[in-house]
Amino acid sequence: MYKIWTILVLGIAYILYSGWIYNDATDFGTTMSAKQIEGKQIYQENNCQSCHQIFGLGGYLGPELTSVMSDKNRGEAYARAFLENGGGTRMPQFNFTKQQVDAILDYLKYVDVNAQPMENIAN
Ligand code: HEC
Repeated sequence: MYKIWTILVLGIAYILYSGWIYNDATDFGTTMSAKQIEGKQIYQENNCQSCHQIFGLGGYLGPELTSVMSDKNRGEAYARAFLENGGGTRMPQFNFTKQQVDAILDYLKYVDVNAQPMENIAN
């Protein structure tokens, strides 16, 4: 008799816990805004990932962009300059509208806020 109850209690606990993990537990309250989604689409449609990495994924011709927005040596104005003018001979000039540039930068902000700095991972 005890065995049945133990199995039932554990089974129900397992189901509830799984439901919680798959729904709320991994939601950090950082859902994307419409503008950020637009920025992500522009990023994907223009194959930025063929040259740049985000969260470690992507090509290696251009610099990592995960923390470009909060990087004290780069930051928003620096990133904007590249998107508006292209960079040297390797970063293409895309001729984006101001609205498109704003959306991309907003998406990169979202990426940055959700990134874990290496020092946090190491500890
Ligand atoms: C053909 C490869 C290539 C593609 C495609 C490309 N980039 Fe770049 N990008 C580069 C290179 C190379 C640099 C660095 C240029 C330099 O430092 O002179 C760069 C620089 C940048 C920078 C400045 C950051 C930094 O640390 O220098 C940003 C922001 C950026 N790219 C965003 C984008 C976005 C967004 C897209 C897609 C719309 C994109 N890039 C597409 C090659 C590329």
